[in-house]
Amino acid sequence: MHRKKTIMLEVENLYCILGTNKVLSGISFSIADGEITTMIGKSGSGKTTIIRALCGLENISHGKICINGKKARHGDYGLVQQGYCLFDHMTILKNVSYALQVVRKFSMKSANSMALDMLAQFGLKDKATAYPSSLSGGQKQRVAIARTLVMNPKILLFDEPTSALDPEMTSDVIDIVKNIASQGIAILIVTHDLVMAQKVSDRILFLEHGKIVENRPAEDFFSDPCSECAKSFLKNAAIF
Ligand SMILES: Nc1ncnc2c1ncn2[C@@H]1O[C@H](COP(=O)(O)OP(=O)(O)OP(=O)(O)O)[C@@H](O)[C@H]1O
Ligand SMILES: [Mg+2]
Repeated sequence: MHRKKTIMLEVENLYCILGTNKVLSGISFSIADGEITTMIGKSGSGKTTIIRALCGLENISHGKICINGKKARHGDYGLVQQGYCLFDHMTILKNVSYALQVVRKFSMKSANSMALDMLAQFGLKDKATAYPSSLSGGQKQRVAIARTLVMNPKILLFDEPTSALDPEMTSDVIDIVKNIASQGIAILIVTHDLVMAQKVSDRILFLEHGKIVENRPAEDFFSDPCSECAKSFLKNAAIF
């Protein structure tokens, strides 16, 4: 039997102006717990700005962001950035345990133990004492996800999670993302990888010029896009 889902993230009428550019113009959407939503759209349509606005990295000029019905707080989000952004001078264990100690104030012993448990879940326990430079791209991506997940976020945001990965590693990341969602975390992904978007998403948000022009179940979007801009986007993507 399916558990009733609750709305985890609610974004209402978000506007964002950067310099003189009106980058987001009235963005509204919601994501339930355990749901995977993917934002796609042409370069410059505003995808990264939405992620940055959610994380409090861009000032919003108007709008409301709620998590679990309350005003969003910084620790509610976990962001897995493009290019992993691991700390190269720290071991893998330290990469995962660092914020637990510094931000969440856990003792080194507790933080290391939580980090090791998380690394074990990602099949990376034997890499605990290694440094990022000795890992493959797929392993680095798993460390980046483990590092974010160990902070226990309610919403997990991914900016281009598979951009540097081969198809096998991409499929690995898809399995990981689905598994995380099944634990009740809401997931928002930005990607240009339409194969991934099709395989992993429950819903698709299609953006153009800072507006959401389609917000539909992934299956419907890919089989029958309604807007001219999405039709043309998918048609062009199919050439490659
Ligand atoms: N700091 C800034 N000042 C002014 N304009 C900005 C700034 N940052 C982004 N923009 C503009 O906002 C628009 C949206 O940018 P954004 O990075 O969100 O696009 P995107 O959809 O993520 O694109 P891509 O697919 O290339 O990553 C672009 O037109 C960009 O030029
Ligand atoms: Mg971007």
